[in-house]
Amino acid sequence: MAVFKPSERVKQLPVNFFNDLDEKLAHAAPDVGKPFINLSKGNPDLPTPQPIVEAMKRAVDDPVNHAYPPFLGKENIRRAITDFYRRTYGVRLDPETEVSVFHGSHIGITAIPQVLLNPGDYLLTTDPCYPIYHSAAALAGAPVYAMPLEAANGFLPDYQIVPEHVKARTGLLMLNYPNNPTGALANESFYRETINFAKQNNIPVLNDFAYASLGFDTRKPVSLLQTEGAKDFAVEVYTLSKTFNMAGWRFGFAVGNASIIQALNHYQTHACSTVFGAVQDAAAYALASEASSIRTIVATYQKRRDLLIDRLRQIGWQMPKPAGTFFAWLPVPDGYTSQTFSDLLFEQAHLVVAPGIGFGEKGDGYIRVSLVHRTEILEEAAERIHALNLF
Ligand SMILES: Cc1ncc(COP(=O)(O)O)c(C=O)c1O
Repeated sequence: MAVFKPSERVKQLPVNFFNDLDEKLAHAAPDVGKPFINLSKGNPDLPTPQPIVEAMKRAVDDPVNHAYPPFLGKENIRRAITDFYRRTYGVRLDPETEVSVFHGSHIGITAIPQVLLNPGDYLLTTDPCYPIYHSAAALAGAPVYAMPLEAANGFLPDYQIVPEHVKARTGLLMLNYPNNPTGALANESFYRETINFAKQNNIPVLNDFAYASLGFDTRKPVSLLQTEGAKDFAVEVYTLSKTFNMAGWRFGFAVGNASIIQALNHYQTHACSTVFGAVQDAAAYALASEASSIRTIVATYQKRRDLLIDRLRQIGWQMPKPAGTFFAWLPVPDGYTSQTFSDLLFEQAHLVVAPGIGFGEKGDGYIRVSLVHRTEILEEAAERIHALNLF
């Protein structure tokens, strides 16, 4: 069999950090008596709300959905998206020119850098960040400049530290609030600063709003598009994966600046195909009708967060509670790196966690654990940590 080398572009793609974790788990010694608890993943554990599943069943029966759907998405989903943004955030959008739909937000966040960046343009983002931003930059041939996120600053970046030569060559600013991995939320004043920065430097902005619905203690995450003048510079990418436990359904969309949306749609008609019409119908149903499911999902994660963090604090491990997302960003004890502490938890407690270094150098003082488990499992995880007598 001939063996072919991948292209130079594909060789630039970083190794997927989390594949290594999966490998390690697959090759771990048999876990008799203490099964591994995997807290490293961000895959919602609860099913999609039943009314959405029923809407999907009806949509599958509709012969209209058996043919190719329109390239730019069905009219009902475009309207459902703009109605959802108007109702939820008070943001007015044109369903024809300011909406793009695709197979999950992963597609949007890897495609937008490719439609905006030329080789050598910087992708400006944060350290830590969702690792796929580095993949997106590599696919676009763009170097990354990452602004550090510090707990003292609420895990919000400081634009003042960006050097002039980087600002001059930045082709896209990519943010993600509510933030994976830190669990931080952005506020209105930070978004005003962001749009000012974009205006001063003529830089387009993308906010990855994957955890849009997941704000705790009654804090509702703000949309970047609520900021005055945001549409002149910004798009926001939304997904139904987390808001409605629909990760397997693969549905996401981008909204905002019409020139970015137009370029993205143009790219998609060449590089991607359309989304199954029944998924679009079910997504339209979810966005229009399932506000109460959102409240139930948020309450579930908040309960889990409280249980886990309260228990960890009781055993002497102090940390703030995340304000949003379904992740907790836990500072590692003195004397450990994120990797050595993750290894210790793996070997001695059979807990799989994501070492912060996987999200960037600034993540090295932390591990990320996810709340996508029942409370009994999270309690068991906390008990196993207690048994290590580290605190
Ligand atoms: C920050 C962030 N953005 C985007 C995604 C991708 O979500 P999806 O492709 O399911 O919409 C994820 C998934 O975990 C994420 O954490």
